[in-house]
Amino acid sequence: MNISELIAYGKKYLHTNQVNILLSELLGYNPLEIYLHLENIIDEDKVNKYKKMVKELANNKPIQYVLGNVNFYGLPFYVDENVLIPRFETEELVENTLKYINKLFPNKDLKAIDLGCGSGNIGITLKKMNDNLRVTCLDISDKALNVAKKNARLLNADIDFVLGDMLDNINTKYDIIISNPPYISENEKIEDIVRDNEPHLALYASDNGLYFYNKILSECKKNLNDKFLIALEIGMTQKEDVINLAHKYLDNIRVECLKDLSNKDRMIFIYSV
Ligand SMILES: C[S@@+](CC[C@H](N)C(=O)[O-])C[C@H]1O[C@@H](n2cnc3c(N)ncnc32)[C@H](O)[C@@H]1O
Repeated sequence: MNISELIAYGKKYLHTNQVNILLSELLGYNPLEIYLHLENIIDEDKVNKYKKMVKELANNKPIQYVLGNVNFYGLPFYVDENVLIPRFETEELVENTLKYINKLFPNKDLKAIDLGCGSGNIGITLKKMNDNLRVTCLDISDKALNVAKKNARLLNADIDFVLGDMLDNINTKYDIIISNPPYISENEKIEDIVRDNEPHLALYASDNGLYFYNKILSECKKNLNDKFLIALEIGMTQKEDVINLAHKYLDNIRVECLKDLSNKDRMIFIYSV
């Protein structure tokens, strides 16, 4: 088949822009270049791969899983069905955490742990942006941890990995704990494409979505150095509850909540004073 025929095939099932994205990825062209090479014959392996991708997209599989990658903070992360697709809001968590680190611990060698690392997007990005950090990525899912390990390899990031249930069996002390834990309450209505494709282990939490904030904040004292930063992504209605949990379990702290670009309460930063 030539490119023109591939476009016609794709358009039977998908929007033109989806076809363009798939072909760009498959052929390594930018979308304009595709239309300059319409007569080019594409080898059979690629044609079969393309047809498979078209079917997956037509069946509402998220495009990031179909392509097997996502851009997070300017870095290419491999993703598959074993991990949450990294979100824009989490880029904001990383960006603000880097600012807090610079403010609280300028030019210091630091230890950080990313709890519920999924694809490793948070921990690996922190390491790539601040080489003073020694980063551990932890997840309870060995399949997710394998994705994170693959990303660390692909992105050439020196990261420690731990399979575990949050801080239960961790004895090391850290300067920074960061987490985007599951925080959707079990009866909350979410988009079908999310519910039907992304791992439920990455999405849902009991106690109205607060289970992991309670778990992390109640357990973390043993794992924190005297001077510390905790950075948490939260659901937009969870600000007050998470702030209350922070004060319930930790003394001598300052707690700040930041909004995301959609003006929703999204990040909690807790640091020692
Ligand atoms: C919301 S996802 C976040 C993934 C990634 N950090 C991100 O920001 O895109 C939550 C992650 O927590 C992990 N998780 C769920 N329960 C856990 C537990 N008890 N201990 C450690 N990780 C857990 C899930 O496997 C999932 O990878």
